[in-house]
Amino acid sequence: MHQPFSRLRRSVLYIPAGNEKALRKSASLSCDVVIFDLEDSVAPEQKAKARERLAEFLASPDRPKHETVIRINALSTEWGTEDLLAASALRPEAILLPKVDGPREILDAGAALNEMDAPRSIRLWAMIETAQGMLNAGPVAELGRDPTARLSCLVAGTNDLAKETRVSDRANLKPWLMQMVLAARAGNLTVLDGVFNDFRDLDAFARECKEARAMGFDGKTLIHPSQIRPANAAFAPKAEEIREAETIVKAFAKPENRLAGVISVNGRMVERLHLEQAAALLENARHIREREE
Ligand code: COA
Ligand code: MG
Repeated sequence: MHQPFSRLRRSVLYIPAGNEKALRKSASLSCDVVIFDLEDSVAPEQKAKARERLAEFLASPDRPKHETVIRINALSTEWGTEDLLAASALRPEAILLPKVDGPREILDAGAALNEMDAPRSIRLWAMIETAQGMLNAGPVAELGRDPTARLSCLVAGTNDLAKETRVSDRANLKPWLMQMVLAARAGNLTVLDGVFNDFRDLDAFARECKEARAMGFDGKTLIHPSQIRPANAAFAPKAEEIREAETIVKAFAKPENRLAGVISVNGRMVERLHLEQAAALLENARHIREREE
């Protein structure tokens, strides 16, 4: 079954665990998901301190009510294992693994979580941001079909990908990003686009969100609170799409169309697969309305 709208993940904000002010701000923000970052936004000398600070913060009453994810350092680094232990104890909805090169890293992290008796509710998210990881997006995403593997989301790491592959513009990254979307759909996973660095240019950001939605992404990862509102708007169904979906649902509900496989609506062929799409879009719109009430 198709799962992408069961949980809203339009706007997914990275918050450096070492930044106390940003941590305190997190509960008040209207993003769908927060990712507390122990990896690249924290300097090597600050890793242990940031881990402690995050633990303190998440134990406090200021802990956000959002879906909460913790990005740890790779298990192959000197901080990885301690990060995983600490993150698991903080009971986030998911732990985000950076620089995943292949399925092995997901299986290893899952085995380590099982060994520490982490609840099954803690899922794994995987960053696809290395050349190997992108080539292996398919095999990684297949683990989405294995309920014991915990994998539920792929996140594009476009800055690392550009650095590693030396591709310098988004236009040329797009074929790979589309492979990643395809892999995620095959594995029934959520898939999130990479960040937009120029956080003062909200017009260009909105254009990139619009493009990302058309590419099939469920949402965008963000670096700054100013990006939340445009991302929430871009990944929500438009009024016209809602009207169109309602028209399709009504048309199939007519007694004469009850048994029809295909009908004509305003001069267009509409099949039952469009009815399913329309119902999913309306459900997504309902989730957003409920969130915003
Ligand atoms: N999460 C929560 N709050 C944030 C934030 C974030 N990612 N980025 C900025 N803020 C807060 C600031 O603390 C500041 O709070 P205040 O109003 O209480 O003073 C406010 O938003 C405005 O911030 P601003 O001054 O415009 O930005 P900045 O210069 O402080 O920070 C960055 C700019 C890019 C350094 C910062 O946004 C950041 O660290 N982003 C995340 C980077 C990251 O996680 N990278 C790894 C993944 S790619
Ligand atoms: Mg990265």
